[in-house]
Amino acid sequence: MKLIVANWKSNHNIDSTREWFEKFKLLAKQKQLFNNSVVQVVITPPHSLLAEVKQLITVHGLGILKIGAQDISQFESGSYTGAISAKNMEGLEVEYVLVGHSERRKHFFENDEVVAAKVERAIQHNLTPILCLSRDKITSQANTINPDYYSQLIAAYEPVEAIGSGCNADPADVAKAIKDIQQVFGETPVLYGGSVCADNVASYLEVCNGVLVGGASLEAESFIDLIVAAQIKVTSS
Ligand code: PGA
Repeated sequence: MKLIVANWKSNHNIDSTREWFEKFKLLAKQKQLFNNSVVQVVITPPHSLLAEVKQLITVHGLGILKIGAQDISQFESGSYTGAISAKNMEGLEVEYVLVGHSERRKHFFENDEVVAAKVERAIQHNLTPILCLSRDKITSQANTINPDYYSQLIAAYEPVEAIGSGCNADPADVAKAIKDIQQVFGETPVLYGGSVCADNVASYLEVCNGVLVGGASLEAESFIDLIVAAQIKVTSS
């Protein structure tokens, strides 16, 4: 089963999220999207919208969608103003959590140690971490993580220059990076992220276990097109 993870980043509010789900439900029905599902779709909204997304999934009968969070505190709950701990997310049906996205590393100064602590918190609370890695992070990041956790995480290869740029990476190069990641982390599933869209998703599903999608997930229409393209690819292979 291939994984398609929508990373909304710091986009959307309650109104636009409701609109997104209305459209998504309509289009999914029109295209009979989930009648024979061969892909698992995960939505990772901002934390402030997790409860709303959970509710909308129920209201629209879209239980086929899973929920992820974009980040998790490296601390257990307590006196950490502004941080969202795993405990704070209990009851929201969050199953996945993005950890170590390059935007967190750049704008929030997260280093490998902080990211490793986040991986640990996630696993201890039965959330599956999606550990984002660039080429230069593979070994240094692995060295900070308890090897017992390697088999419990999903890795995501995201070359920084491909993120949000429209310059998606060469699938052959992605295949090499995945090999490098698996050499260190073992047979962990690896996703690719960086300007993935309906037109190029098939080439990545050829070489990896799924995709992490930013820009193309923000509108229901483009995200549905991407899921359709992914389903066609998976069904035909
Ligand atoms: P993008 O973002 O699809 O907009 O390039 C991907 C990501 O940052 O996860």
